[in-house]
Amino acid sequence: MSDAPIYDIDPPAFWADPYPDLAGMRARAPIVYVPQLGATLLTRRDDIFDNEKRIEVFSSDQPDGLMTVLMGQNMMRKDGAAHMAERKAIFPTVSPRTVRDTWTAQFRAATARILDDLAGRPGFDLMADYAMPVSAEALKAMTGLTNMTAHETNRVSQGMIDGCANYAGDPAVEANCHDCTASIDAHIDAMIPVLDAAPDHSLLSVQRRAGLSDAQTRANIKLAISGGQNEPRDAIAGTVWALLTHPDQLALIRSGAATWLQAFEEYARWISPIGMSPRRVARPYTLHGVTFAPDDRVFLMFGSGNRDERVFADPDRFDITRDTGPAISFGAGPHFCAGAWASKALIADVALPMLFDRLPDLALDGDAPFGGWAFRGPLRMPVRGPVRGPVRGAARPV
Ligand code: HEM
Repeated sequence: MSDAPIYDIDPPAFWADPYPDLAGMRARAPIVYVPQLGATLLTRRDDIFDNEKRIEVFSSDQPDGLMTVLMGQNMMRKDGAAHMAERKAIFPTVSPRTVRDTWTAQFRAATARILDDLAGRPGFDLMADYAMPVSAEALKAMTGLTNMTAHETNRVSQGMIDGCANYAGDPAVEANCHDCTASIDAHIDAMIPVLDAAPDHSLLSVQRRAGLSDAQTRANIKLAISGGQNEPRDAIAGTVWALLTHPDQLALIRSGAATWLQAFEEYARWISPIGMSPRRVARPYTLHGVTFAPDDRVFLMFGSGNRDERVFADPDRFDITRDTGPAISFGAGPHFCAGAWASKALIADVALPMLFDRLPDLALDGDAPFGGWAFRGPLRMPVRGPVRGPVRGAARPV
């Protein structure tokens, strides 16, 4: 382990709200060792931004890590040329052009159907009944697993996330994770002949055409599902919650003084859907007087960097007019989120405007508790509608 100053946390309190401790860590020292997590944490924005690029020190290759063991070695667990080759191979799925020309219309059509299904209901759970299926339908299209239900996409995503965080080795969590990856493999098996016969821009189709191996293809689809379902889901619901609890900010959008994209980007800075990314130290290294040894576990704390008072004025304030340019919500190095363009289109061009268009009187209807620090978002969000019927030409795909 590194010789960084020790900072103790109470894990349940950290899960309930990590931000007071993250501020305490930043105040204490630039780098801290947290015994309860068995990891050394980089908490300042500029340190994360600079050091994430030093892949010869902070390696993504973690052969013994739970993600690699349970889901196969995906691109996020590779460095250098091996990583870049796969990143290049999947570009036709996630490029800004494909998002604009292919996915956005599909996102709109699926979201319109979800809103139609909610029409007439006086209230619903914005997490379970809107954000979850909107995110899942987008991911089904992008992965190519259109044969999976939205609930199954959500289930297998959560099962893999739980499996990757199962440091205590709970056999039930591990067994459930295996069940989830087996479900994905079965859905892939069924879609391969369909997509080979009619290729499209999906991750499954694009990787097969690029000649990636079966193992690479499956591991990257599992990665996209584990990382691409809960983040847009949590960001959609979270941004709605932030706007409803800050009506002055929502008024800025309604008056045209600010955009949905500004709201999403500020939300993702303020409450980062992915709070951290792990690395393995590959060679001895010293930073701010802290000595790192090979195989030390390091967490790049994006959620902390996004509240770094050295970079963001009044960082705990939700202010959609601030410059979120320095934020590291999507990462800050070669592993910068491959789904960033798709997420921005889904959330800022589709999910938020269509929701507020169809529910002009949308209001919270009870508490919306949040949880998590590695992944953070609302746990549930009861809201009142009602959802208006579709307005011809207003919210439908062109
Ligand atoms: C609000 C939405 C999202 C957020 C905040 C988010 C955030 C992140 C972050 C922080 C990373 C790690 C970056 C790093 O270590 O430097 C990442 C990686 C990744 N994300 Fe996302 N993500 C989102 C949505 C998505 C979606 C929808 C997909 C898939 C369609 C996706 C696919 C990926 C992939 C494949 C990687 C690994 C990239 C690589 O290793 O090169 N993400 N994301």
